[in-house]
Amino acid sequence: MRALRLEKALLRSVARSLGHGLPKANHACTTASVTVVGLGPMGRAMAGTLLDHAVPVTVFNRTASRADTVVAAGARRATSAEDALYAADLVIVSLTHYPAMYDLLEPAADRLAGKVLVNLSSGTPREAERAAAWAVRHGAEFLTGGIMVPAPLVGDDTAYAFYSGPRAVLDRWSDTLGLLARPEYVGADPGLALLWYQALLDLFMTTLVGTSHAAALMKSAGVQAETFLPYASDLLA
Ligand SMILES: NC(=O)c1ccc[n+]([C@@H]2O[C@H](COP(=O)([O-])OP(=O)(O)OC[C@H]3O[C@@H](n4cnc5c(N)ncnc54)[C@H](OP(=O)(O)O)[C@@H]3O)[C@@H](O)[C@H]2O)c1
Repeated sequence: MRALRLEKALLRSVARSLGHGLPKANHACTTASVTVVGLGPMGRAMAGTLLDHAVPVTVFNRTASRADTVVAAGARRATSAEDALYAADLVIVSLTHYPAMYDLLEPAADRLAGKVLVNLSSGTPREAERAAAWAVRHGAEFLTGGIMVPAPLVGDDTAYAFYSGPRAVLDRWSDTLGLLARPEYVGADPGLALLWYQALLDLFMTTLVGTSHAAALMKSAGVQAETFLPYASDLLA
């Protein structure tokens, strides 16, 4: 529990310093329906946050039982990829990696026309470029996203996400996407959001490793992490 609090504090500190500390805009509630594809911790947090804001949500996941908690909270369970795509104009994808998107949605690709696909899964810029071309080939619009907080902080004031792709599409959906995390637009090239995401994760991971290593170093001299961490926090703030 204490470790989780420390992790959250560190993540908030990094989010503040990297995300300029701007408060999330006060986004108006939208009633447009949203489909969330992928129900790992992140997809469930996104679906739950949208439901908290009274957004109608349809969810779709390879393992149907993982939808149980969000369905109990008010989401509608899609029974197929076709059903999931039919249910909403905005389709948020949150999967382990980019190939999973094709595994799930390729069989229903003819239902992509007219949809806005927002992929917030981790991946490489090249994977995002290929995914955008695939979506456009099927008549959809595509935004690449990189969310910069862990699942428990989705919807928090410190949460932000990088987006790239057509600016007008983000503008059209920023009220809804802003319920999850403050949108930070980084350019039209679909790969850019993941470039920013990976660069900041690089910084985050090295900071985490550096902090752990420094704490171990201090411990080797008998100084406990509790004594050392306030100084580490000051340095990172
Ligand atoms: N969790 C976080 O705090 C966090 C923070 C920032 C970014 N992200 C990124 O957000 C994305 C989702 O995060 P997560 O923690 O929810 O990840 P996760 O637990 O790895 O996501 C699992 C989801 O991907 C699905 N999936 C995996 N391989 C699949 C395949 N081949 N075909 C169909 N579905 C497949 C799983 O379906 P099943 O349920 O059927 O296995 C499940 O819905 C990841 O790309 C992650 O890097 C996560």
